[in-house]
Amino acid sequence: MTTYRTHTCGQLHAEHVKQTVTLSGWVNARRDHGGLIFIDLRDRYGITQVVINPETSPEAHQLAQQLRDEFVITIEGAVSKRPDAMINDKMSTGEIEVIVSALIIQSASDVIPFQIQEHVEANEVTRLKHRYLDLRRPPLQKNLQIRHQINHTIRNYLNEHRFLEIETPYLTKSTPEGARDYVVPSRVHKGKFFALPQSPQLFKQLLMISGMDRYYQIVRCFRDEDLRADRQPEFTQLDMELSFTTQAEIQNIIEGLIQKIMLDVMGVAIKAPFTRLTYAQAMSSYASDKPDLRYPIAMKELSDVLAKTDFKVFQSVIHGQGEIRGMKIPGGESISRSQIDALTKQVQQFGAKGMVWIRKKADQITCSVEKFLTSEELQGLATALEMDNDDLGLIVADQAGIARTALNEIKPEVLAKVGFKPTQAWAFAWVEDFPLFEFDPEQNRHVSIHHPFTSPLAQDMDDLMAGQNLTKIRSNAYDLVLNGFEIGGGSIRIHQQDVQKAIFSALGLDEAQANEKFGFFLKALQYGTPPHGGIALGIDRIAMLLAGATSLRDVIAFPKTQNANDLMVDAPGKIELEQLLELNLSLLQKESI
Ligand code: AMO
Repeated sequence: MTTYRTHTCGQLHAEHVKQTVTLSGWVNARRDHGGLIFIDLRDRYGITQVVINPETSPEAHQLAQQLRDEFVITIEGAVSKRPDAMINDKMSTGEIEVIVSALIIQSASDVIPFQIQEHVEANEVTRLKHRYLDLRRPPLQKNLQIRHQINHTIRNYLNEHRFLEIETPYLTKSTPEGARDYVVPSRVHKGKFFALPQSPQLFKQLLMISGMDRYYQIVRCFRDEDLRADRQPEFTQLDMELSFTTQAEIQNIIEGLIQKIMLDVMGVAIKAPFTRLTYAQAMSSYASDKPDLRYPIAMKELSDVLAKTDFKVFQSVIHGQGEIRGMKIPGGESISRSQIDALTKQVQQFGAKGMVWIRKKADQITCSVEKFLTSEELQGLATALEMDNDDLGLIVADQAGIARTALNEIKPEVLAKVGFKPTQAWAFAWVEDFPLFEFDPEQNRHVSIHHPFTSPLAQDMDDLMAGQNLTKIRSNAYDLVLNGFEIGGGSIRIHQQDVQKAIFSALGLDEAQANEKFGFFLKALQYGTPPHGGIALGIDRIAMLLAGATSLRDVIAFPKTQNANDLMVDAPGKIELEQLLELNLSLLQKESI
């Protein structure tokens, strides 16, 4: 055999019958039928059945006795049509098999800790320790291919839209996203540290000041924050910035990109423009700034309908500045009283005192508190909830925030009970006009919700410049949401120094502190800054959703665990005393060295 392969293990069909081929790959399974030995030979592209006949290839047959799972072999042989009864429609190569004439064992394999198959029983720790084996499994191979396709489409699309791919430093200074930094000690500058970037935010803005006009980068970001299934300490963004742009233009470009990704990777046509909600609407209707619009059941505020009610419970909530929220469950007629009782217990876990139900059947309205309400009020509630016959309305009256959160929490379960089908499989939406600041009681000061370089809405600029109504100021910031996940966030930036100064002063940073943190950037702003804005998309989250995975770990080749370590390479690890000395570092507890 002069080559390793003439074809891949996913390539051969009936048209190749009678050809002599060479294949290489892993032994996925070996079946010894006394005489004939069957091997499923696997590579990234598929599995091909190869057959070794002791009569015609005694040498290869002898060697094949040694084969075990995951040995790497090369075979040469003739493609042959399988007997009709043996044709396997589920395999792309299921019509053929290769009758081996020669076999080479390239390398042996120890006994593997778990089987290389679609579903494995082995726990995640074992799989992460042997990640290179886990990655041989078809679902992970598929996920990494999806991720590759996403990146490929991104590069093509942005190239067509005049974006330059520019790299920015990893060894840098603290960036403004507000999580904890991963730091790297400097050997040359003893006692000083680099911070790994939480995002390239300031560098991309500097690139706009440099006149690069349109930038992008598929870039690693590092954030030392509490991990969840949709958070990794190092993750990948598609980071973009544009000059002389508007929010509408950025959203338009991103919608085009998402449409292209969905078409190329999933074969799905997505409609644009995407749904747009203000932050205030999203919070009011869905109690979330990343609503899952596959379930577009908005909560309604019902205080107006009940403004004059005599019912004490509703009255006291209205007078106490609370809220009365309701949502309609289409077809909720099928939900029984005992099921509603169970749901009421659930809303109580979220702090609500109780829940009221209202039903409409044959145009008659019934309600759990109907004896306390007038017929106009009952009718008003049904109208406000947009109820049709056979719908159920669920209403919670409580302190602001509690009522909507409680309803939102039970929504998926109630909808599942009535067999509600999502109206769309892929619900993309923009959430816009986020507040610029929130008050952080721990630090006793205002902090930026996005980051301090986000511009306020023009309508709220006067408040910012006057330093008043800070938590009411809205920003030019927008998030992209898919099926209840935040998959991107961006903003139009500040390009005027006086506005930037007003932001720092609202954040309680004096000039010296602002200079210490971001002096290099503030200086750059003085040399002619184009109006600019941008966005970053979370590639891991997008890949996770497109792959139908439930954890980012399933779409990252070598991920970290929930405790932010890498079980395979065993990182983070200790370092030698020598290295500590060289870095002029000492550890607080000697025994931990
Ligand atoms: P932001 O902090 O919103 O914005 O991040 C952008 C997107 O990155 C993804 N993301 C994460 N993915 C996985 N693990 C994490 N720990 C994690 N944190 C964030 C999310 C998020 O929407 N510099 C700004 C962007 C800009 O203003 O242009 C930024 O980083 O999908």
